[in-house]
Amino acid sequence: MSITVLLGAQWGDEGKGRITDALAADADIVARFNGGDNAGHTITIGSRVFKLHLLPAGIFRERCLNLIGNGVVLNPIHFLKERNEIVAAGFPVTPENLQISEAAHVILPGHIALDAAREATQGGIGTTQRGIGFAYSDKAARLGLRAGLMRDPERFAGAVYEHTQRVNRALEREYRRPPLDAQAVADQYAEAARHVAPYLANTFRTLHRALAQGRRVLAEGAQAVMLDIDHGTYPFVTSSNATIGGVLTGLGVPAQAITRVVGMAKAFCTRVGAGPFVTELDGELALRLRGTGANPWDEYGATTGRPRRVGWFDGVALRYAAQMNGLTELALTKLDILTGLDPLRICVAYAYHGAQLEDFPQDSDILAQCRPIYEELPGWQADVRSARSFDDLPAEARAYIARIEALAGVRVTMVSVGPEREQLVVR
Ligand code: IMP
Repeated sequence: MSITVLLGAQWGDEGKGRITDALAADADIVARFNGGDNAGHTITIGSRVFKLHLLPAGIFRERCLNLIGNGVVLNPIHFLKERNEIVAAGFPVTPENLQISEAAHVILPGHIALDAAREATQGGIGTTQRGIGFAYSDKAARLGLRAGLMRDPERFAGAVYEHTQRVNRALEREYRRPPLDAQAVADQYAEAARHVAPYLANTFRTLHRALAQGRRVLAEGAQAVMLDIDHGTYPFVTSSNATIGGVLTGLGVPAQAITRVVGMAKAFCTRVGAGPFVTELDGELALRLRGTGANPWDEYGATTGRPRRVGWFDGVALRYAAQMNGLTELALTKLDILTGLDPLRICVAYAYHGAQLEDFPQDSDILAQCRPIYEELPGWQADVRSARSFDDLPAEARAYIARIEALAGVRVTMVSVGPEREQLVVR
């Protein structure tokens, strides 16, 4: 049994799509285990840039089977739209290369309407407004609709109708919002169910048979450690477990099957949505790190287009991520963006009311009052985009990476130096 896990070690948007794509080259199965279409994984193939929200990145690899696991929340309409886009781009998406767990939960318009309504109140945290939190709430409250129900579009339509009526009461009473047309929603989703049904499968069985045959599985995380519902900066988090435990529950696999845990970190930090961000920058430096938005890899949300908040590398947060998930290695992305900045800064501890904290505080109120304690490192001027081996990198870049490794206690095995597939240093 052999499962490689790829996890976001920061606040999401570390470039997971890019590294999953690289790792998928050696995988027989790529499986998503958490989240939904709140994710946005950007993959560059030649001159074409794809943004995947729900489909696993193995969809671009010919012999790869892709699984959407039980831990995912699936919007059937958005799934079909994404499938059609990928098919139109020339990549097949059939039940032969994609299976959706019948135990995954379905996101409905009611979830999205409630998400939007809540976001418009004081309680908003800057969600992607994809209905994620409300779909997981229904799952936990045992009111959710599982994907398997889509095999029976008539029954599914009845359940969607009832769900929408229930949501309508909340929309009107709690948020003073107009109701949704329950019949129209039920009809639309029954029609979608007919197209989704062929993809439904017992992904647990698929996965365990494959593991027993020695197949290589890649578990593709969405969001990241700091957005994890339990271990992230609650309440400024998503509603699933984006950490190692989410792999076990979101796919139904044993811990012993996991042989490799790759943490993804950007060479600096970014965050979208509200919540504490100790190393956050503003002004010129922030603009420089964020980019103008002219390039698809500039720091604007892949799902919502929102400008991302940017900051210096946070070594305290990374150490927390490494400990929690048992990271066996690190992939560092966007090193090329730091070229020309001198000096560089890495946060090595937090200052909190006169005390120095080495450990990441789990209380967001404390975190919000922490100030960064930085170490300065010399920058580099040489263009790193053509580097293909570690030795090709300037000494200052290697020293920057070495400092990150020391803080995390984990070796950096991959460094991306540009958006193209081949702009990757593998150590
Ligand atoms: P939700 O997952 O849409 O409920 O959003 C909750 C929080 O997670 C918000 O701060 C979002 O900006 C953030 N978030 C959700 N998905 C992603 C992602 O894929 N990348 C980065 N941030 C995300």
